Amino acid sequence: MKTALITGITGQDGSYLTELLVGKGYKVYGIIRRSSSFNTERLEHLYQDPHEKRKMELVYGDLNDASSLAEIIHSLKPDEIYNLGAQSHVRVSFDIPEYTGEITGMGTLRLLEAIRRTGCKARFYQASSSEMFGKVAETPQTETTPFHPRSPYACAKVFSHYLTVNYRESYNIFACNGILFNHESPRRGETFVTRKITRAATRIKLGLQDKLYLGNLEAKRDWGFAGDYVEAMWLMLQADNPDDYVIATGETYSVREFLDEVFCLLNLDWKKIVEIDPRYFRPAEVDLLLGDSSKAKRQLGWQPKITFKELVKMMVKSDMELAKKEKILKDVNE
Ligand code: NAP
Ligand code: GDD
Repeated sequence: MKTALITGITGQDGSYLTELLVGKGYKVYGIIRRSSSFNTERLEHLYQDPHEKRKMELVYGDLNDASSLAEIIHSLKPDEIYNLGAQSHVRVSFDIPEYTGEITGMGTLRLLEAIRRTGCKARFYQASSSEMFGKVAETPQTETTPFHPRSPYACAKVFSHYLTVNYRESYNIFACNGILFNHESPRRGETFVTRKITRAATRIKLGLQDKLYLGNLEAKRDWGFAGDYVEAMWLMLQADNPDDYVIATGETYSVREFLDEVFCLLNLDWKKIVEIDPRYFRPAEVDLLLGDSSKAKRQLGWQPKITFKELVKMMVKSDMELAKKEKILKDVNE
């Protein structure tokens, strides 16, 4: 049985990747950090199934704690390691730049060092990001487009990206960077713009909320479905040789267009509901992201399955179910 170790298993991608690997017969170990409240909500459905439960195990560790990483890797000797753990919020990285550098940047170094020092033969996946292209030098962006990071988060990702390349070249580690463009799902964190919009719009439809406060509506993103993107991560580690790949849909939409799509599905006019709040603007913005993933298609046979419209529908449907449950609870308590 193959074994995989995932950092960031409690996050959006961690939960989809765990499902994928468990489905392929892997034993999955996930590193979780200690929290004063539950942070395993996205994994509950796997834990509740007694059969699946045995295929997934959580161990305490932290990307800030080199000794925990070395101990986990030494004792588990996984076949594959997926580094998804990060302080992953771009706006927040301007507020806590040092912490972001520590986890999103130095965390990768600690993990790679733990692999090197323990002599672990695991294949390594690094969650690189389209944010690294930042103030884009060309459109669409490919594996050869120069980086121009625009936030502490993106700078930390560039550091991790090149470390991954460097450990591949220096120590012959099978290490890959997946340069993933934005990917969303019903499990997306609620402070990222897509989920913030679908969550608010469905609550507004049921009278649970009045207003939605947003920042820059003109930014354009290449939005795909997280379930499709974790498959690309796995494919990279099954290839004959380690390499870096752009993973994207090849379509871009503005936040404004995302709003149009969501509110149209709910028969609401967002212009009467959305207000602009300067707090959500960033000191430096990434205006346009559009990826070309033809290398991944050619070499890995990967392509996205879910379209933009299907993604929006899926998120609205799921958040409507959530809002309905909330409404029932509210009505019962009144
Ligand atoms: P996410 O939902 O924000 O999940 C981040 C994960 O990192 C969580 O499990 C979190 O644990 C964990 N984490 C945070 N600090 C940690 C620490 N100090 N030690 C160990 N784990 C820590 O992110 P995501 O959307 O799934 O993205 C996964 C990865 O891909 C991230 O590295 C992100 O930067 C990168 N990425 C994402 C996208 C995207 O569009 N989603 C695109 C490109 C790259 P808690 O649950 O305890 O907070
Ligand atoms: N979060 C947020 N909240 N973003 C807003 C808002 C708001 O109220 N209003 C407008 N936006 C704009 C942001 O300024 C940005 O241009 C765009 O919406 C997308 O913001 P996010 O959803 O926060 O995602 P991101 O593109 O900054 O970062 C995500 O994708 C990266 C890949 O390109 C994150 O998942 C990163 O971890 C990931 O690397």
